[in-house]
Formats: sequence, structure tokens, C-alpha cells
Amino acid sequence: AVAAPTSAPTPAAVQGSDPGGGRDGLFGAITSGTIGAPGIGDPAFPGDGNGGYDVRHYLLRLSYDPATKRLAGSATIRARAVQDLTSFNLDLRGLTVSRVAVDGATAGFGRQGDELTIRPAYRISKGDRFEVTVDYSGLPEPIRDYVNLGTYGFVATADGSFVTSEPNGAKTWFPSNDHPADKATYDFEITVPAGLTAIANGELDGEPKTVDGKTTFVWREKHPMASYLATMTTGKFEIRTGKSDKGLPIYAAVAPVFRGSLDNLYTETAKITDYWSTVFGPYPFSSTGGVIDDYSSGYALENQTKPIYGGFSPESGIIAHELAHQWFGDSVSITRWKDLWLNEGFATYAEWLWAEHRGEATAEALFKRYYANAADPMWTYPPGDARATDLFNNSVYVRGAMTLHALRKAIGDAVFFPLLKKWTAEHRYGNVTTEQFVALAEQMSGKKLTALFDAWLFQPRRPAAVA
Ligand code: ARG
Ligand code: ZN
Repeated sequence: AVAAPTSAPTPAAVQGSDPGGGRDGLFGAITSGTIGAPGIGDPAFPGDGNGGYDVRHYLLRLSYDPATKRLAGSATIRARAVQDLTSFNLDLRGLTVSRVAVDGATAGFGRQGDELTIRPAYRISKGDRFEVTVDYSGLPEPIRDYVNLGTYGFVATADGSFVTSEPNGAKTWFPSNDHPADKATYDFEITVPAGLTAIANGELDGEPKTVDGKTTFVWREKHPMASYLATMTTGKFEIRTGKSDKGLPIYAAVAPVFRGSLDNLYTETAKITDYWSTVFGPYPFSSTGGVIDDYSSGYALENQTKPIYGGFSPESGIIAHELAHQWFGDSVSITRWKDLWLNEGFATYAEWLWAEHRGEATAEALFKRYYANAADPMWTYPPGDARATDLFNNSVYVRGAMTLHALRKAIGDAVFFPLLKKWTAEHRYGNVTTEQFVALAEQMSGKKLTALFDAWLFQPRRPAAVA
């Protein structure tokens, strides 16, 4: 079994440049036996992800019909064993599996809760690459029973689907190693009734093809991606494509009722992505974009290359937040959910930097305003330890952002901004922990910063005022 991480992975274990993974055990853990663990070893989400292998690539060939709400197709997963395997698991919730094959040979399988256990006909040896194909179909259902997370995963809409899977909703629509510690590249071949659009991550490969009243869209995301960022949003959409001033391809899509917001979404997305590349370092992916669907989820999600806005026309601060996540969360990803402030604190701080850039407010003024409210509940929630039962607490966002501002004041702009660029460059497409960020900040500033981070991230009280 894969043990829970007890300390930060060594830099050598997390800095591999092998896209899609390739580390020996996701947490650098020693594995033994021949049964892959049913969880990846994240203490806050013990059933999420799986142990014993590392996914390199997903090929999702799926058709969806909004009239029947039926999803059908196959997932082909290429992985590498990090231990000998006589059986291993994938995460899958609901849906009916009709066949599983490993390296072309029919494999045994069983279902228990959200675990799909696969028994290949032949033992897989440590280090081997193998390919699993799961044929499945059914009526996907989103997850509604988690505390404080709302509805997430695959949501059937009137004309299609709205898919936002953070933190662990990928399993509602494809069998996966559903945890951000195991990133992989993706190909999508999505078939919908003619007249509808299927939107996934990455870029379209060729023009969509229509045969017998059905259109197939081929999308490829060739950079590693966490499972919660994968999407297949389908329905009626109006689309605008083009290039940003810096030459980056843009794909903007809106549900027809939001047609009046298409140009603004397109223009702001292009402008903000280009601006962030000057602040955070080169944009990590091959295109940028945004999707406004007419399903009111009440939130947005930073789906890789295509943030999605659920039923509202986003103002530029929210677009700035979701696009900042392309660097913080999507390219540089967390290894365990308790470090979520590395995503949300950074994206919220990006909103403050955007306000500063536009001359609307300074980060300092925003920091001071939040600091002044001594009764804010965020002071009792340490953001460096995001809780499974209240993962997206405001503290993870705002106190997380305040942590960065306190750091900026302690080390100065001349170190703070290069630190952001170094962080995104050093861990591009990889996985990180809070300990690694603290270590880099100390290294670049030459200052001891453990007291600052401890007060801001780990104490259940408001830190002493910063000069
Ligand atoms: N990461 C998203 C954002 O900050 C929020 C996702 C919330 N997820 C959920 N299941 N409620 O933009
Ligand atoms: Zn966010």
C-alpha cells in the first residue's frame, strides 16, 4: 500500500521533467505486495486516487446524448506500475462497466463503492508500462453529498453537460486515478448530436466531423493535467477564436443566453493571460480560453486551458483568478488537498494584483481591509491545513492571499516577484507542497521565514500586525 506522506517529497522525487509522471510512488513511498492501494495516500481524502501505478495518458472516447442523458464509450489509460500488481483500482462512481481489458486481454473486475478493482489476466511487474481499456455507459450523476462543496462532477443540463470536477468528481464520468498527485496527458474524442458543441481541454485536432447526424470533436491536452481539471462541456454554444496580442490561441464559448458576453470574455481572457505571463512567467499551455454555460453552479472552475463560469458573466477579477490558476493549480499542482492555499491563496492574491494593475485598489489596501476585521471567522481556520469537511473555506482564499502579501512585505518586491516566477518555472507541470514553497522563499530571500508562515498558515488566530 502507498503510505501517507509524512514529509515533503524530496526535490528529486517531484521535479522529474517526465510529462505525465514517472516517479516511483506518488509520495515517494515504499510499496510492497502486489495489490495496488485503493487510495493514493492523501490523509484528508483516503479513498481518492489509487496506489501502485502512475497514469501517463487518458484517451476518452465518449458519446453523450442530452435527450437520453446517456454517456457511453471507453476510457483507455496508459500507466506505469510502481510495484508488482496482481490487482489495482481505478475510481469510478455509478455507470455500468461492460468490459475491462489490460494490454488487450480481458481482465476481471469488481465494483465496491467508488472503487473499480481490476484483476489483469497476467501479473504486471514493477516498472512495466500497461494499458487498461474500460468500456462503460450509463446516466452520470454529479456528487451532491459532500460537505460544503455544492454539486460537482458531471451535471446533465437541458442541452448538454456541465462538467466541473474539483476536488474528486472526475470519477462521475470516467474511470481515473482521481487525485491531483497523478497528472497525465489527455485525448478526448467526444460525439454529440449534430448542432451541439463538445468542449474539452487543450486544442481541437482538426475540424469536427459529422456522420449520420452526430458530430465528433477531437481535443488534445498534451500537457500533464490533474483529473479534476478535465472537462467535457457540451451543448449549444457560440464561439469566438483567435489569438492574443502575444500570439496565444484563444477559444471562448458561451451558451446562447450569454451571447452578449462573448466578446468581453474573449477580450479579457486574451488580455489577462498575456498580462499574467509577464508577472508569473511563460504561459504553461498551448491555448487559453473560457466557457460560460447557462447552468448556475454558483462558482467558476479553472479547467485547464478553459476556465468555466457556471451561469454568470464573470467580471474581470474572476477571470483574472481563474487564469492565474493556470499557473497555480493547473501547471504547478498540489500533492495533497490540505495545501489548497497554494492554489486558492495565489489565485486570490492574483485578483489583488489585477486590481492593483488596473489602478482600482492596491493589494496593501485590500490586505488592510481584511486585517481590520478581527471577528472574521477566517482567523480561527488555519489556511495551511485545508479541511476535507470545509475545503473551500474563505480562509484558504483570503487568508491564503494575505499570507502572500505578508511574505511580500517581509522579503520585498525585488525578491517576491522573482520568487513567483521561479516557483512556476521550477515546478512547471509538477506537484508541490507548502514545505517546498517555504524552502524556496527562504532560499531566495536569505531570511528565516518559518515564524511568518507558521503565524499566517497554521495558527487558529489572527497573526500580529505586519509593519
Ligand atoms: N477552484 C474553484 C475556484 O476557486 C472553486 C471550486 C469549488 N468547487 C466546488 N465543488 N464547490 O475558482
Ligand atoms: Zn480559485
